[in-house]
Amino acid sequence: MIDILSSSTFRRFPLSLTSDPGTRLKYRSIKGTKDLLPAETGLWHHVEADVRYMMSVFNYREIRTPVFEATSLFARSIGELTDIVTKEMYTFNDRGDESLTLRPEGTASVLRAYLQNNLGEQAPLTKLYYLGPMFRQERPQAGRLRQFYQFGAEAIGSSSPLLDVEMMILPLEVYRNLGINDTKLALNSVGCEKCRPRYKKLLIAELKKIQKSLSPDSQARLSQNPLRVLDSKDERDRKLTADVPLIKDHLCEECRPHFEEVQSALNALNISFHIDGRMVRGLDYYTKTAFEITHQSLGSQDALAGGGRYDLLIQELGGKATPAVGFAAGMERLMIVLEKNKREIASPSPKLYLAALDEPSRSWAFRTAVDLRKKGIAVETDYLDRSLKAQMRDANRLAAEYVVVIGSEELKSGSGKLKNMRSGTERPVSLSDLAGALG
Ligand code: HAM
Repeated sequence: MIDILSSSTFRRFPLSLTSDPGTRLKYRSIKGTKDLLPAETGLWHHVEADVRYMMSVFNYREIRTPVFEATSLFARSIGELTDIVTKEMYTFNDRGDESLTLRPEGTASVLRAYLQNNLGEQAPLTKLYYLGPMFRQERPQAGRLRQFYQFGAEAIGSSSPLLDVEMMILPLEVYRNLGINDTKLALNSVGCEKCRPRYKKLLIAELKKIQKSLSPDSQARLSQNPLRVLDSKDERDRKLTADVPLIKDHLCEECRPHFEEVQSALNALNISFHIDGRMVRGLDYYTKTAFEITHQSLGSQDALAGGGRYDLLIQELGGKATPAVGFAAGMERLMIVLEKNKREIASPSPKLYLAALDEPSRSWAFRTAVDLRKKGIAVETDYLDRSLKAQMRDANRLAAEYVVVIGSEELKSGSGKLKNMRSGTERPVSLSDLAGALG
C-alpha cells in the first residue's frame, strides 16, 4: 500500500500555489489544456506508480501507442454518430493530405496495435494497459478537459464474465490503495447483435409516442442512436422516458446469463454495485456489460472510470471474431477526488541541503552534492550566492530534512554539524561520510 501523504520524503503544499500573472502574457495554454506544475507532479508520480503496481499485480502489461491515428480508425470503432466522433475529435489533414486524429480514447489504438502486431497469435488471452493523454474538444469545465490523461486496460481473447468483473476491481483497487473507498459502481448490460436490434424496435416504438415532447438532442438521437435517449441529462426527457422498456429486461439467452454471472461474481466478492438500466455510455462498441464508477465529490462530471465488453469490435476492425473487455479512468478527476478529500498534495523534498558560506565552500558543496546524488541521495545546494539566512530559508521552503553549513573552518577540520530540520537538533558529522550519516 502506498501511503502518499504520510511519506517522510514528501512535503506538503497548499493547493493554490499558482497565481495568474494577468493578461499581459503573449502566449497562454490552449483552452481546456492544463500545465501540471511541480506542486502537482509529485502526487501524479505516486498515482502513476500505484496504477503501474496494480496493473502488474493483475498481470497487465504496458502498451504505448502513438497519440494520433488514421481518423477512420476512431470513426469506425467509437461510432460514426457518437458525440465523440461527430463533435469532439481533433482531426486534421497532414501535409500528405491524410486525415489524422488525436486519439480521443485508448481502446481503438490498442486494438489496432493488437491486430497489426499479431499479439493474438502469441497468447490466447492478451492483457494490456496504458497510461497517457487523450484529446476531446468538449466544453471545458471542472473535471472536463480537452487534453486529459487516462489509465486503462484491455483484456482481449476471453468472454468470461469474471474478466468483466476484473475490469471493475482493477480501478477500484487503484482507488482503495489511494484511500478512496466511497466510489459507486453502476452496472448495465447493453445486449448484443441478437437482442439489441429487437429491443431497439421496441424502444423506438415507445419513444415515437413521446417524440414531440423530447428535447431537440433526444429527438435527433431517436433516429440515430435511440438507446442514448435514455442517457439524456435533460430532466424533462428523463421524466418522459421513466417507464420505457430497458434493454436489461430484454436480453437474449446468451446475454442474460452473462449479466447474471457478472452480478454473482461481484456479490461473491462483496463489491457493492447498483444496476442502472439507463446507462448506455457514449461509445458504440459495447456489447453485454457496461459499467461506470462515480464519486460524489466530482459534481456533474462524476465519472471516475468507465468500461465494458466489446465482443464485436475486433472483427469490425478486420480481425477474427475475438471477445474483449476493458476500462479507462480519468487521471484529473482522480486528482480532484484526492485533493478534495485530503486538501493537501505532496511533492518530493531533498534529504540534505548543503549551505555554503564562501566560494571554496560553494564549489565543495556542489561536488559533494553531485557525489551524493550518484549514491541516490536527494541533495540541494545554493546556486545564487545567497546569504546563510537566505539559504536556510530556501532549505525550509524545500522542506529539506537535514542541513549542513559549510565554511572555511568545516573544510579545514573535515567535520561539520548535521542539523535535523524537523527536530532542530544538531550532531557532529564527518564531511567525508555524509552518506553514512544520512543512512
Ligand atoms: P470514457 O467513459 O469515454 O471511456 O472515458 C473514461 C474516463 O475518462 C471517464 O470516466 C473520465 O474519468 C475520463 N474522461 C473522459 N473524458 C474526459 C474529459 N474530457 N476530461 C477529463 N476526463 C475525461 C473510454 O474512453 C473507453 N475507451 C473506456 C473503455 C476501455 N472501454 C473499454 N475499454
